[in-house]
Amino acid sequence: MFLVTGATGTAGGEVVRALSGRPVRALVRRADVAVPGAQAVVGDLNDPGSLATAFDGVSAVFLLSGYADMPGLLARARKAGVQRVVLLSGGSAALEDLDNAVSRYMTLSERAVRESGLDWTLLRPRAFMSNALRWLPQLRAGDSVRVQYPRVRTACVDPRDIAAVAVRALGGGHEGRTYELTGPEPLLPAEQVAVLARVLGRDLRAVELSDEETRAEMAQSMPPAYVDAFARFYADGTLDEATVHPDVAEVTGRPPRTFGQWARDHACVFR
Ligand SMILES: NC(=O)c1ccc[n+]([C@@H]2O[C@H](COP(=O)([O-])OP(=O)(O)OC[C@H]3O[C@@H](n4cnc5c(N)ncnc54)[C@H](OP(=O)(O)O)[C@@H]3O)[C@@H](O)[C@H]2O)c1
Repeated sequence: MFLVTGATGTAGGEVVRALSGRPVRALVRRADVAVPGAQAVVGDLNDPGSLATAFDGVSAVFLLSGYADMPGLLARARKAGVQRVVLLSGGSAALEDLDNAVSRYMTLSERAVRESGLDWTLLRPRAFMSNALRWLPQLRAGDSVRVQYPRVRTACVDPRDIAAVAVRALGGGHEGRTYELTGPEPLLPAEQVAVLARVLGRDLRAVELSDEETRAEMAQSMPPAYVDAFARFYADGTLDEATVHPDVAEVTGRPPRTFGQWARDHACVFR
């Protein structure tokens, strides 16, 4: 039995779909939430004591980073008989910058996993291609798309490719490995908008925000510590998200999906 956390979200949802046909349990926070293709079990990652039922009979866990007591959570998992954990962190874990709120939670989560006594695999995806869904309200309102940190290229990755790697790691044979998960090409935000324009057959225009405008826009949807963290990554340039890594292809045996593929497969959401 596999346990997938974050199963109602983007990455975990793709992991559940990729595990189709296998016994899967999905951690949910509310009893009225169903996850197609999985047995839902209620628990809260911020409360390791709530996870006993979720871990029962589980061999491997797909785990999100950044919860209140990651060492305690992992100790519970081990005690319950879990053998393996596949942790979703991110590229900024490599910075080990404990003064940066995002790098901090990823670094500390990775450390907790390494020290857990469980078999582990670390997944460090770069920006998800699905982050483009944030532009939906603007695309519904018109043809202009305000783009944040317009000079920053990211080798953004399709969440389905994250899931494809996760499923292989959950099955074993990838113990002690850290995978840098990227798409096949580094793209500027405006280049992503141009791809969307072609796919949707629309005359879209990217409006490039200054760093200050970006900060102000981000502050509307995230805590100040995260706004600062992203400013350090992208305005100060502490994080390289542009380098393309071979890991998706090496693990899955096929090239990572392009942003064009992601956009075509999600075009109906934008229409
Ligand atoms: N987006 C990116 O570009 C990016 C890049 C690199 C790494 N990452 C990492 O990937 C992670 C997952 O991203 P995502 O886009 O898949 O997230 P998402 O769509 O926002 O989903 C978050 C999931 O976590 C669950 N959750 C939140 N708090 C929980 C708690 N206390 N206990 C149990 N479940 C809880 C949510 O469940 P509910 O339905 O109950 O809310 C939801 O299923 C991010 O948090 C980040 O660490 C993201």
